[in-house]
Amino acid sequence: MSQNEITIRKPFDPHAHLRSGQMLRKVLSYTSCIFPRAVVMGNLENDPVDNAKRLVAYRDEILKADPGFEPVMSVMLTRNTTVESLDACWKAGAKVLKFIPGGVSTGGAEGLDLPDLKFQTHLLKKARNLGMIFSCHFELASDENGAAIPKGRQEYWAIGYLKEIIRAVPGLKIVVEHVSSEEMIEAVLEAPLNVAATLTAHHAILTVDDVLDSRENIINGLNYCKPVAKDIRDRHAVRLAMTGGNPKFFFGSDSAPHPLDRKLGSEPAAGIFTAPVALPLLCKIFIEENGIGWLENFVSVYGPQFYGLPVSEGTLTLGEEPWEVPFDLDGVPIFMGGKKLQWKVM
Ligand code: DOR
Ligand code: ZN
Ligand code: ZN
Repeated sequence: MSQNEITIRKPFDPHAHLRSGQMLRKVLSYTSCIFPRAVVMGNLENDPVDNAKRLVAYRDEILKADPGFEPVMSVMLTRNTTVESLDACWKAGAKVLKFIPGGVSTGGAEGLDLPDLKFQTHLLKKARNLGMIFSCHFELASDENGAAIPKGRQEYWAIGYLKEIIRAVPGLKIVVEHVSSEEMIEAVLEAPLNVAATLTAHHAILTVDDVLDSRENIINGLNYCKPVAKDIRDRHAVRLAMTGGNPKFFFGSDSAPHPLDRKLGSEPAAGIFTAPVALPLLCKIFIEENGIGWLENFVSVYGPQFYGLPVSEGTLTLGEEPWEVPFDLDGVPIFMGGKKLQWKVM
């Protein structure tokens, strides 16, 4: 037994990319052994989970790989989405409507951008009326003239669209995913109580210097995700929001595995596989920020509260016991691979 131990109720992950096929079978246990329940994102490449039939097949595939895990199913908002398809997905068990604007990240909705949502308010209202949560990747890749927005500013430029949705669809439960900037944290704080945000461990650790050079060329694909990590000021804001005990902010790993060859090279895929290291990293962050008493609420309580789900049964213990993170899981690079961590899931 290690000298220092912290025991919390089992966490909930409202933002996990588990993929499908071989990758799913490889990574699933790293999520399910820590999070008995997780919202599974359906941005499968070239095969988005955007209809009831696909949703049922994807859930079956996940349950076949791990019958003890409880996937909370999401349905992707794409150009195929209709009021009727949302109804069918709800009946098939979808709890979350998920949107990644086209062109901003892995598996974004082709041909649907953030500004287009103003023509989709009937879908957002339908989701609200069904009791679905709208989980959205708020980044804007190009301005109204079509000019590219720098990666470091794409979240900032999405704030106006968040405000527009809040106004246009009152009462819609919105999760602003993986907030990475001080400005977006402020926007979430100012928003009504039906608006919450997830925060990741990696956005509380990385800064832009770990990922991009001054011209926004990617210098380390292993640390590349969207939204991209920002500067120290933003990271500080993320850490304060995370450890401050406000129920509007809860954990969402955004664990997003990609094979090594997709993470290297000139155009690395966005996404970092964090499931094997997220809890030990959070433990260290909460201790550093003098907020360890809030860790359990952040990872296990506030998320289920917002999603209207029970807190997971059972407990998880973290012990102070240094270990080295393996570089990869069978060809899938792990966040902080090769580094030593102080805390370990026991
Ligand atoms: O970095 C990211 N990776 N951001 C996302 O929004 C998607 C994710 C993925 O699926 O790889
Ligand atoms: Zn995202
Ligand atoms: Zn994601």
